[in-house]
Amino acid sequence: MKKYLKWAGLSLIALMVVMQFFQISKTNPALIAEQDFINIHKPSAEVTKILKAACYDCHSHETAYPWYTYFVPLSYWIKNHIVEGREELNFSTWSTYAAKKADHKLEECVEKVSEKKMPLSSYTITHSDAKLNAEQIKLLSDYFNSLRDGSSEKNKEDEDND
Ligand code: HEC
Repeated sequence: MKKYLKWAGLSLIALMVVMQFFQISKTNPALIAEQDFINIHKPSAEVTKILKAACYDCHSHETAYPWYTYFVPLSYWIKNHIVEGREELNFSTWSTYAAKKADHKLEECVEKVSEKKMPLSSYTITHSDAKLNAEQIKLLSDYFNSLRDGSSEKNKEDEDND
């Protein structure tokens, strides 16, 4: 029994070591300034700071990869947030969104930030500057709301009228 446990332990360690050779890709896609949300809308310095600190690691092509993203399998879990985050909302390709889609994403942003669903709580453990206080949440929500043109609502009404 003891011998079996020793082998199991050693195998697990060996597996962890081998896994470290399978690193995630940390190459960010090229930045296109004209497509970037901040570059287009030029928010205040305070809003820009919050967006960069609390959202851009997962929702842009400007992801910073800290030291622990070298650790497999944790790094795969983090990478998954980045891939999924960009898929759902990518501030680096903001100008490619049609008006209706952009309006809807802004609505979602207000919702997620107000309900404290974004930034992800697992993220703020290691990024204390991404923890938003009530004032920052209001500032960010008001800002997102100010950019809305209501086009996604209009379509909702159209559907209701049909
Ligand atoms: C650690 C990575 C991470 C950070 C940081 C982060 N998000 Fe997200 N976000 C995700 C992931 C993953 C999803 C998709 C899964 C989900 O909805 O939980 C998502 C989904 C969203 C959605 C939903 C989009 C849709 O159409 O349904 C919005 C809106 C959003 N995030 C806004 C933000 C904003 C605004 C910030 C900054 C205040 C932020 N997120 C910070 C990872 C992140």
